[in-house]
Amino acid sequence: MGAKAIQMQDVTIKYEDKTVLENLSLEIAGGTSCSIIGPSGCGKTTLLNTLAAFIKPTCGTVFYDGLPLVRYPEDTAIIFQDYSLFPWKTVYENVALGLKMKKYPPKEQHDKTLHILERLKIRDIQNRYPHQISGGQKQRAAIGRSLALEPSVLLLDEVTAALDAMTKESLQDTLAEIAASREHTMIQVTHSIEEAILLGQKIVIMQTGRIATEIENPLFGQENLRTSPAFYEMCVRVRQLLEEGQPQ
Ligand SMILES: Nc1ncnc2c1ncn2[C@@H]1O[C@H](COP(=O)(O)OP(=O)(O)OP(=O)(O)O)[C@@H](O)[C@H]1O
Ligand SMILES: [Mg+2]
Repeated sequence: MGAKAIQMQDVTIKYEDKTVLENLSLEIAGGTSCSIIGPSGCGKTTLLNTLAAFIKPTCGTVFYDGLPLVRYPEDTAIIFQDYSLFPWKTVYENVALGLKMKKYPPKEQHDKTLHILERLKIRDIQNRYPHQISGGQKQRAAIGRSLALEPSVLLLDEVTAALDAMTKESLQDTLAEIAASREHTMIQVTHSIEEAILLGQKIVIMQTGRIATEIENPLFGQENLRTSPAFYEMCVRVRQLLEEGQPQ
C-alpha cells in the first residue's frame, strides 16, 4: 500500500446552519507531509475529521488517490492529543493490538512490534502500563500503535500539545524522521510555528473556515534545523503570515 495523494475539492462543512469550512481546496501529494496551522476554532480538527470521513462534506469532495472518499479509509490513522491507549494493556500490547486484530502471523506480529518500539524509542518501557509512563511516552506508544499497521495516511491533531518543551522537541524529532521516510502521507495540525516548519514540506495557514496561504517549505528535511538562522527566518515569515490572516 503506497502513501496516498489527498485532494480536497471545494469542500464546505456546515454544522446545522454554521459554516465551519467554506469552499476549501487542498492538494497533498502522496508520501509528502503537510502542516496545518491557524487560530483556535478556525476548523483544523474539522478538516482532519473530514479527511478521515468522520464528517461528510455538505458540498465538495475529498479524494484519496483520485477516488472519492465515502467512508473511513482503513489504511488511514488519526491520532489526537489525548493518547488513546488501552490502560489495561502494556505498551507492547497496545502497539501489537492492530496487528493481532488483523491476524498477522505471531512471528510477524512480534517482529513488527519490536521494530516500531525501536523506531519510536520506547522499547525499554514495552512492559509498562500507560499509568506507569510519561505523557511523551504515552503519545509515542499511541503513534506506534497506529504506525504498526503501516497506514498510507497519517493524520495528527496537536499530538505534542500537552507535552513539556523538551519532551515535545524529542517527539517532534521522531515525527520529522517519520515524515522524511515518505512512507505515509502525513498531515499534522499544530499551534506551534516551529513544529509546522520542522514537520511540513508544505505549510497551510488557515483562518476561519478557509486557507489563507499555502507555502512550500524549503527547509523540510534539513538536519540540525532548530539551530540554523534560516529556521529562525522561516519562523518569522510564518508568524507574519499568521498575523496577516488575523482580524485587526
Ligand atoms: N460538532 C460540532 N457542532 C457544532 N459546531 C462545531 C462542532 N465541532 C466544532 N464546531 C465548531 O466549528 C468550529 C471549528 O472547530 P474545530 O474544532 O475544527 O477548530 P480547531 O481549528 O480545531 O480549533 P482548536 O485549535 O481550538 O482545536 C468552531 O467554531 C467550533 O465551535
Ligand atoms: Mg482542534
